[in-house]
Formats: sequence, C-alpha cells, structure tokens
Amino acid sequence: PDQPKTSIVIFGATGDLAKRKLFPSIFNLYRKGNISEEFAVVGVARRPWTNEVLREKVCEAVTDVFDVEQDKLDRFVNHFNYLPFDVTGKESYHELKKQLTQLEGDYNIPGNRIFYMAMAPEFFGTIASNLKSEGVTEANGWTRLVIEKPFGHDLSSAKKLNEDIREAFNEDDIYRIDHYLGKEMVQNIEVIRFANAMFEPLWNNRYISNIQITSSEALGVEDRGGYYETSGALRDMVQNHMLQMVSLLAMDPPIRLSTDEIRSEKIKVLRALRMVNGEEVDNYFVRGQYGPGIIRGNEVPGYRSEKNVDPNSKTETFVAGKLLIDNHRWAGVPFYIRTGKRMGLKSTKIVIQFKELPLNLYFNKNQKKIHPNILIIHIQPDEGISLVLNGKKVGPSGETTPVQLDYSNDGIDTVNTPEAYERLLLDCMLGDAANFTHWDEVELSWTYVDEISKGWVTSTKQIPLYDSGSMGPKEADDLLGKDGFQWWPIK
Ligand code: BG6
Repeated sequence: PDQPKTSIVIFGATGDLAKRKLFPSIFNLYRKGNISEEFAVVGVARRPWTNEVLREKVCEAVTDVFDVEQDKLDRFVNHFNYLPFDVTGKESYHELKKQLTQLEGDYNIPGNRIFYMAMAPEFFGTIASNLKSEGVTEANGWTRLVIEKPFGHDLSSAKKLNEDIREAFNEDDIYRIDHYLGKEMVQNIEVIRFANAMFEPLWNNRYISNIQITSSEALGVEDRGGYYETSGALRDMVQNHMLQMVSLLAMDPPIRLSTDEIRSEKIKVLRALRMVNGEEVDNYFVRGQYGPGIIRGNEVPGYRSEKNVDPNSKTETFVAGKLLIDNHRWAGVPFYIRTGKRMGLKSTKIVIQFKELPLNLYFNKNQKKIHPNILIIHIQPDEGISLVLNGKKVGPSGETTPVQLDYSNDGIDTVNTPEAYERLLLDCMLGDAANFTHWDEVELSWTYVDEISKGWVTSTKQIPLYDSGSMGPKEADDLLGKDGFQWWPIK
C-alpha cells in the first residue's frame, strides 16, 4: 500500500502513553518503511518543554524498546516538534495551526492530520470543539481523531463526550481505540472462525456448550488508584475489551471485510445481549476485590492498602459474568467472562468447549468420561491455538486419551510491546477503522454495563475478597458450577 503522509498531533505528549506506546510505535512504522519521510509529529502538553526536550524523550522512549543506530534515530526525531499548550486558550490552537501549515510545507504533507487524544479524558470535548472553532480541522487533506479510553464512564457521560467530538469530527473520522483490537490473536479470531471449514459450521448452539474468556493480570492497580476507584474492573475491562472479544466470537460472518460490514455484525451481537436487570445481577455477575497475598514469592498488599484507594473501598478488582446472547446462533450458550487484577498470572485466553456427542462408547482411564473437544485461543502472553481431541491410548487397553494439538505463533513475547498500537496507528493513517469501536458499540456496551452497575448499587451481597495470586473468589467458580461447568485451567 501507499505510504501514508500525515501529521500527527499528540495531545498529552509528556504522558505515559506517549512514551511507552506511541513514540516507539511511530518509530517502528518509520523503521519498517510503513511511513515515509513525509510525516511530522507535534507533541502538545501543558509543560514548558522545547523541541529539544521532546526529541530527547522520544529518543529515550525508542531506545528503551529497540536497538537503533543513532543516525536513523536522529533523522527520526527531527520530525518531532513540541508546543506548550493550554487546551482552553484559543492562542494555543492558532499556534498549532500555524505550525501544522509550516510542517506540511516542510515535509510535503498533503494536509492530512491526525489528532491523537492521549491525555485526561475531561479535556477531550474542549479540545475537539476548539480544534474546529479555531480552524485547525480545516486542512487540505483528511482529518481524523484518535481517542483513547475511557470513552465516558457510563452511558450518559459517553453520550456527552460523543456529542462534543461529533461537533468537530464525523463518525467516519473518529477512531476510538480499544487496544485489544490491535492484538494479533484478537484479530485472528475472525480468521480462525471464517477461514476454516471445520469451525464455522460448528460455531453455534448445536455444537458449542459454552465459551470462556479469561483476562487475568498479576499486577495490582499500581499508581492508578485514583482512576481505578471510579472505574473498577467492570468499567475498566468489561465494557470495552471483554465485550469486544465476545462480539468477535459471536458475530455472524460479514459479507465482506469492510469496516462497515464487520462493525455491523459486531453491533448485532451487542444488541442481542440479554440485559441483566436489577436483582438478577447477583445470579449473573460476581465481583471480587484482592486482599493481600503472594505473587511469585513476594508478599503484596491488598487493594485497600494501595495508594489513593479508600481503606473501605467497595471497588471491584475482579469480575466474572455469564452473558447470554438471544439470537438463533447462540440461544442457550453461556459466554463466561472473568477478568481481574492481582490474579496468579498475566494471561488472556478464550476456551471454546464443544458439546458432548449424542452417544459415546469410549472412556478414559478408570472409566472416566471422555474429555470434551475444546479449542483454546491463546491471546497473550503466548499466541496460538490449541485443539483438544480424543484419541485411542496406545496399546491394548481400549482406553481413550485426550490429544492436544498446539500451534504457537513464533517468536517474541508481545505483552507490553508497542505492536498493537503500531498496527492501530497505521490502520488509522490508511483510513481503516475496522479495528476501532464504532459509537453504536460504545453505546450498547455502556447500556449493558450500566445495568450491572445499577444492580450492584442495590445489591446487598458483600464483595468477596480473594487472595492475591489466586484465580479470583470462589463465587466465580460457583457461577459455572451451578450450570454444570468449570473454568478450564489457564496456564
Ligand atoms: C487497560 C486497562 O485498558 O488494559 C488496564 O485500563 C489493564 O487496567 C490493561 O491493565 C490490560 O491490557 P493488556 O494489553 O496488558 O492486557
């Protein structure tokens, strides 16, 4: 494909996201030749940095991740400029406009502009409306907005934010980031499902018994206590990443691989989610909060002793849920999800458990029932798929034994590498929004999640503590146990 030619304005250029993800990602795109010399980055933030300071920081951020030759790096960082910025002051926008016009001349960029919001969400609306009113969005080429989570903190705040940004940008030009959609194996879900004759025909309630999605983290809240107290695992992980994985697993095949077609299939899944109302919430969702415990031999404190966390906090750091999708394909098949902090390990996996055969004549050792067929999609840290089948145990016993076929994506551990961001940035430059969330998806997922939050407000059920380093509270096991299932172990 053509190398996109664009300027990128990063709001929040002094922040953590810019440093950890965006600078290394842009560098990698440059190094691989995905973008040409015809690009410029303007970093803006409150601090009184200079171009030199920003360039220095970009160098550090890049060399933290990659081995680079100095002259390549020097050439790269020359494309970066810094602008001290007051998001509420018109002057700043005039200055930004001037700089962009200048850079577009210097680097021969045809007026394409990406505005990347990588800062505190309370300013997103103000920035968008000032960009428009001060004419910064009037460029000769296209203008696109990339916006980080959290996209609101419930439906009404998300609506408000959306209205604000829609004043300045069309829906088609808004790229709402869900970085899970940039992960290799999340993108692979669609291919595994729709490029294999042996899965798609079985991918429904006739053959699938249940689906389990686990995204566990070993880290606690670190220094994000302030944010996390207002969010909890439900808003932080379920509203976005978990529901996105559910919709990719459950969607019907798109008629073609275009942004609109893929999104419209995902949206239909979210519309079919059975709402969990009021008192029902405790039958479908389990919360937990981490207590102290031991992770890899180290003692770690409980959530309530973390920095910026209320010592009586009722914030959930773990959620497990049972989701039902009321359509022809999925009626009756539970989708179980669980996610939490300070669990035993960092891992994201999807387990698809197939139904038992109508008549089975075979047994495992000691007359034990045969293992169900399961397909495991390993999202991270390892990437690959495993398929558990049944075979004959070698020898005369007549027993069967589970046989596991493993495929693993070669190579590097992808946790925390900039790859997801790199991909998403390039997609945005190329105008491909398939791996970004449409407003309708945001709206539907908040609608679903808000009902659960509401149910929790009135629920009298205590939030169970779970030991740090465990797989969550016992209640999460009971959630499946009462349906006759269990969580497949995650390694
Ligand atoms: C973010 C959440 O969206 O996703 C974090 O805000 C969480 O709390 C992170 O740690 C997990 O992402 P990943 O890519 O490390 O699984």
